[in-house]
Order: sequence, then structure tokens, then C-alpha cells
Amino acid sequence: MGSVLVIGSFNVDHVWTSDRLPRPGETLSGRYSSGPGGKGFNQAVAARRAGAATRFVCALGGDGGGDLARALAADDGIDLRELRSEAPTGTAGIYLDEAGGNSIVIGAGANADLSAAFVTAQAGAFAEAAVVLTQLESPAAAVLEGLRRARAAGAVALLNPAPANAAVAADLLAATDILTPNETEFTGLLARSTGTRVADDAIAATPDDRLHDWCRALLPHGIVVITLGGAGCFVSHADDARRGEEAACYRLPAAPARVVDTTGAGDAFNGALAAGLTQAPAAPFAQHVRLATHYAALSTERAGAAAAMPSAAQLRERFGELFSAG
Ligand code: RIB
Ligand code: NA
Repeated sequence: MGSVLVIGSFNVDHVWTSDRLPRPGETLSGRYSSGPGGKGFNQAVAARRAGAATRFVCALGGDGGGDLARALAADDGIDLRELRSEAPTGTAGIYLDEAGGNSIVIGAGANADLSAAFVTAQAGAFAEAAVVLTQLESPAAAVLEGLRRARAAGAVALLNPAPANAAVAADLLAATDILTPNETEFTGLLARSTGTRVADDAIAATPDDRLHDWCRALLPHGIVVITLGGAGCFVSHADDARRGEEAACYRLPAAPARVVDTTGAGDAFNGALAAGLTQAPAAPFAQHVRLATHYAALSTERAGAAAAMPSAAQLRERFGELFSAG
């Protein structure tokens, strides 16, 4: 069985929770916690706990944040490939409200040093990878190199185009096999790539055939999965690749969840999707998406980002009738 290779960020998340988000100039009091995060690391932990052999390529500082990443990767059995940076390890300041809304500021720190050359140097990791998963919290050159090396090595190039405000050059999309935007990321990509402007909250209600056309405009040969939070997701296959018996486009519902904290839910989805594709490459794509939606739902039932990722056993325990085969 191949492995999942995640290329991306690690952040120490500093989280303040209050009953609502502060307005500019306002001071509120609330509760504080901190824990491991960063989209790359969250996705690596999800892929690993969902059952895949996982490598994580990142950049860390020589500080306590970096030590946290090293210790947690070792605990979870993630093979860490670290570029040691002079900069401090990445951080995220997260304000959460009681309803689950959030505002985040990232201090990229060491993450900004992840280079295409360091990615290129991981030749052995690419050779063993079935899926290469990356995001946009790392320099575009490193992300592009990861996607291109994935293809060259015969692995699936999976891009989670998050966060939404990151620039996505056309060459990144051209190097991607599977793209997993949320509605905000999708409308941003669509506007920048095609000039079509749609409101984020109009996506879930847009007719399937129109969404399918928009997805194919972004990725003429791949698969686009638009994650829609509580409304589930929309899947569009530009061609017959990995389609199985499904229609060219279809929706899948979200799984039920007793939501505590949605931070990292998108990361849970992407990590589990990568793990499923690695573990059962011949299975219908919809089966992997179903697993990923349930995995993501379960991750929202616990506080935190990486720390909230469930194990495969916990997924079976909660949704056993769906995943009894493992
Ligand atoms: O996707 C959630 C993550 O985004 C958090 O862990 C935070 O670090 C930011 O990168
Ligand atoms: Na969570």
C-alpha cells in the first residue's frame, strides 16, 4: 500500500473563546487554550489517524513550537521531514464565538521558508506516495513543486486551496488532479480564473449542472469536491476518471454531528479523503467522500484542530454500519 505525503504548514494555535467575536477596537474577556494546528499538520494527523502511512514535509523553528510538532508527529507515527528554519515556528491567533464562528490571523514564521528545493529533495517520499496532499499556507513554489512531483511519481495530486485569500496561480490548478475548495474558496477561484462572480451563500442552492460547468472550467480534467459545511458536499468529475457507477456530478449529505468546534473540519475531510484514496485506490470515489464527510463531522465534536482528529476505530464506533468493513 502506498502512503500519504502531506506538504504544508504547522502552527501553534492560540485560541480565545468568547460569546461573540470582538469588533475592531473592542476588548472582550473569554477563555484561552492552545494546541497544535496548521492546515498541513492537521491534514497529516487526520490521514494518519484514518489509517494511512503518512509523511509530513514542513518547516519548523528551533523553538518550543517546533518541539511540539516533533513530539506529536512521533506520538502519532507520522514520518516528519523537517526543514529547520531560523524563524519562529508558525502561529495562529484564533477568536472563537460560542456559535462556532471564528476569525484567524496567521503568523507564517518558519512556514514561509518551506522551499521547492526542500520538497524536491524528498525523492524517496514521492516514490512511495499514492497521494500527495497540499494547501496554501506554504509558499506557492513549494506547493507547485509538490503537485508536479506527485504527478511525475504517479501519485494523485490533491490540492486543498485554503485559506481563501491565498493567491492561486493557473499553474497550480493545472498541476492538480483533485481540488477541494469550500464555498468561499470556490467562489474566489471561480472569479479569479473565469471572471464569473457568485455569492458564497448561493453555491449550495445553485443547480448541479451549472456548478458542474463551473467546476470543469476550473479543472478541465480532474475532480472538484466543493465542501458545503452542514449542507454536505458537491462532487464534479470533469471526465470518467475514478467515477465508478456515479453520475458525472452528485451531492452527498453531511453526517450528523454534535458540533463543539469546527476548527480543522476541512482539514479532517482532506486528510481522510487522502487516506481513503491511498488505502482503497480502486474503490468508487463517492465512497471516499462519504468516509471523509463522516470523519470531518466527528472531528467537530471535539475542541481543537489536530488534537480533535478521530481514529479509524472511533469513526467505526460512531458510524459503524457505514464503515464496518474498515
Ligand atoms: O484549518 C484550521 C487551521 O487553520 C488552524 O489549525 C490554524 O492553524 C490555521 O492554519
Ligand atoms: Na474540532
